[in-house]
Amino acid sequence: MRYSLLAGGKRIRPVLCLATAEAIGRDRPTVLPLAAAIELIHTYSLIHDDLPAMDDDDLRRGRPTCHIKFGEDVAILAGDALYAEAFRHLLTEQPGEPGAVLSAARELAAATGVDGMVGGQYLDVAGVATTPEDLRRLHELKTGRLIGASVVCVLLLEGMDDPQTEPWRRYASELGVLFQIVDDILDVTGTDTDLGKPQGSDERHGKRTYVTEYGLDGARDMARSCHESARATLSGAAPQGAGRLEQITDFIFTRTS
Ligand code: IPE
Ligand code: IPE
Ligand code: MG
Ligand code: MG
Ligand code: MG
Repeated sequence: MRYSLLAGGKRIRPVLCLATAEAIGRDRPTVLPLAAAIELIHTYSLIHDDLPAMDDDDLRRGRPTCHIKFGEDVAILAGDALYAEAFRHLLTEQPGEPGAVLSAARELAAATGVDGMVGGQYLDVAGVATTPEDLRRLHELKTGRLIGASVVCVLLLEGMDDPQTEPWRRYASELGVLFQIVDDILDVTGTDTDLGKPQGSDERHGKRTYVTEYGLDGARDMARSCHESARATLSGAAPQGAGRLEQITDFIFTRTS
């Protein structure tokens, strides 16, 4: 668990939690338990995503993947335990109104379950996404929902209701899809060293991605328009401006790792 979690990574999801707290005028340290819980879940998803039965990759965060280092049995358990530890940590350490903490926990469970990340991973491995709409749905679920939860759970901790979170949900969803389009592009254009994971994994597994469907230029155009809508939806959610979130949105578009 420590080997994979402490290997590094960009920490985009916890940083999004902190930036969202800042954008709504909440003390950033008060969301650290939530931020950590989300990173634990993300790390679990990477360990399982790399397993031979899934993407069968041997490099992650610049190191041999968990199953290469410790065996498949231990890697499966490390992922399972990170998931449980995430909720234990959130429910034990997160300050706030009990009802608000529960709402955040419910959102996180929904974002990672069958209508979220795991459902998206299923659509990915089963290869059942055929139309452009299916592909967008796959991206929204497998990556978008957890990225989205990094924003939305902070609002729920603050006690915001559905109408208040709605414009933020639109932003978070767009940002999540942007993240995965760029991930698909980098799988083709990146290097093992920059990415810390094997380049070309999608092609080796015959995955349907934004690049296979639209070509590299087409995928870059879609990333550009997704970035524009993410910035526009962010302006809608935070009309006063949200400098740090704007920077993170730009980084997700221009990143090379
Ligand atoms: C990789 O996520 C998996 C996807 C959801 C595309 P990141 O690119 O955030 O991985 P780390 O945390 O930086 O290693
Ligand atoms: C995985 O998508 C998303 C997860 C839920 C882990 P990918 O399979 O494209 O992620 P990478 O490229 O291996 O990081
Ligand atoms: Mg995968
Ligand atoms: Mg993968
Ligand atoms: Mg990928």
